[in-house]
Amino acid sequence: MRRKLAAGNWKMNGLRADLAELDALASRYEAPEVDILLCPPATLVAEACARSGAISIGGQDCHSGQSGAHTGDISAMMLKDAGAGAVILGHSERREDHEESSEDVRAKALAANAAGLMCVICLGESLEQREAANTLEIIGGQLSASVPDTATGENLVIAYEPIWAIGTGLVPSLDQIGEVHDFIRTQLERRFGAGVGRSVRLLYGGSVKPDNAADIFAVSNVDGALVGGASLKSGDFSAIIDALNDSA
Ligand code: PGA
Repeated sequence: MRRKLAAGNWKMNGLRADLAELDALASRYEAPEVDILLCPPATLVAEACARSGAISIGGQDCHSGQSGAHTGDISAMMLKDAGAGAVILGHSERREDHEESSEDVRAKALAANAAGLMCVICLGESLEQREAANTLEIIGGQLSASVPDTATGENLVIAYEPIWAIGTGLVPSLDQIGEVHDFIRTQLERRFGAGVGRSVRLLYGGSVKPDNAADIFAVSNVDGALVGGASLKSGDFSAIIDALNDSA
């Protein structure tokens, strides 16, 4: 059985005062039945780890190297040292803003796993690609190139995030979400065998809100969500976590 996962991505939002939102989550979920992961900006990771209780803390990116002359970058080991347990890799905003390729993402994933971090690797098609009926081809290509051969159900989570659904309020139909998640599951089973392929958790991300979460969590092979905007406020994120818990 895959344990459900609610993951929050604060992106470039959050000052120290905003950790009050984490405090609220930590006191509400002292022994949650689903896994909860919050990924604040790097400046808040260490302090978040010190007060997160049963909630795991993750980074939003890491470098593929261990250390060295890479001004402004952060290594996986640094995140681990700060107390993080996971890192988001290959988010479409990284792929676009920083021209990260799937090969870059795979190198980062290897570094993250070597440091003992679980990776949440993001995949997603653009609106153009969806309209050209290329979604599965794009997702398949990103999946095979971004995920390292060493993947397991413990060190890898995949997040399907259609680029056109991120921060837009647009959400694919439940059938479209199911089609992509079933496809990712099949690809993982083919590549890694049924054992590993069935143990990797698949999250949906892109405009997940309290009012659509329950429907999305009922879709086959959706094991949770990667939540951006609605993870910034503990009230909204809690409603999504509760919907996931009810679906479990
Ligand atoms: P959103 O972002 O929930 O604000 O659409 C999701 C994400 O980018 O992870």
